[in-house]
Amino acid sequence: MLTQWVDGVWTNLEPFEFLGAKFDRMMGVIRLDDDSLFIYGPNRLPSELKDVLAATGEVSCFMVPSLFHDNHANDWCAAYPDAKVIAPPGLALECPEERIVRNATDALPDDLIAVTVEGMPKVHETVVYDELNKTLFVADLMFNLADAPGRTRWDKRFYKLAGFGSGGELAVSRLFRFLTKDKVAFRRSCDRILEFEIERLVVGHGAVVTVDAYEKVRDALSRFK
Ligand SMILES: [Fe+2]
Repeated sequence: MLTQWVDGVWTNLEPFEFLGAKFDRMMGVIRLDDDSLFIYGPNRLPSELKDVLAATGEVSCFMVPSLFHDNHANDWCAAYPDAKVIAPPGLALECPEERIVRNATDALPDDLIAVTVEGMPKVHETVVYDELNKTLFVADLMFNLADAPGRTRWDKRFYKLAGFGSGGELAVSRLFRFLTKDKVAFRRSCDRILEFEIERLVVGHGAVVTVDAYEKVRDALSRFK
C-alpha cells in the first residue's frame, strides 16, 4: 500500500487508465519534523490505506497539486477534518474555505519548497521539493512511463502519440505543451526547479526516478520548446 524510498518518504500507487492506456497515479507521503505526514496528490482513500497512514503518522496537511489532480480531494477533506488543505485557486472543494490555503508557497512546512509552474493557468500545477530527502514531487509536469510495470503494446503506442517518445521515457507531455500559454513564464519555473539538488523524482504518473534524477529532469525540461 505504501512503498518506502528512504526514511520519511513513501509513495502510494493507484491503478488508473486513460483511453485504455496505463497511467497509474502516484501519491507522495512525506514525514515532517513533528512526525506528522504531508500528502502530495491524494489518491483514492480505501480503509486499508487510511489504516496504513494512521500507523505511519497523523495526516496534518494534504495538497491538491493541480486543477487536474483533484479527483479524491473531497474524500480527504471529510476523512481528515483537522488537516490543512492546500489547493489551487479556483478549485471548488466540499470543505469550508477557511480550511483551504490557496497559495502553496506560503503554506508549506519547513524543509518543503513549493514552485507553482507558471504560464499554464488552466493547470496551475505546484511541485514540491523536499530539501531533507532531496526529492522532487510533480503531478503532470513530467511523466515517466518507461518503467511502469505490465505495459501493453497499446500503452506504448499511446505514450508515443501523447508525446513521450517511443519508450515512455521521462518527458513533458504534448498536452502540457499545448496548455502552456506563456512559455517564458514556464521556462522561468523550470529554471527555478533546476536550482534544486534532485536525487529522486516522484512523478504523478509512472515510475519513481532514483538514478541520475537531476540529469533526467534537466533533459526532460530542456526538450520542452
Ligand atoms: Fe495527471
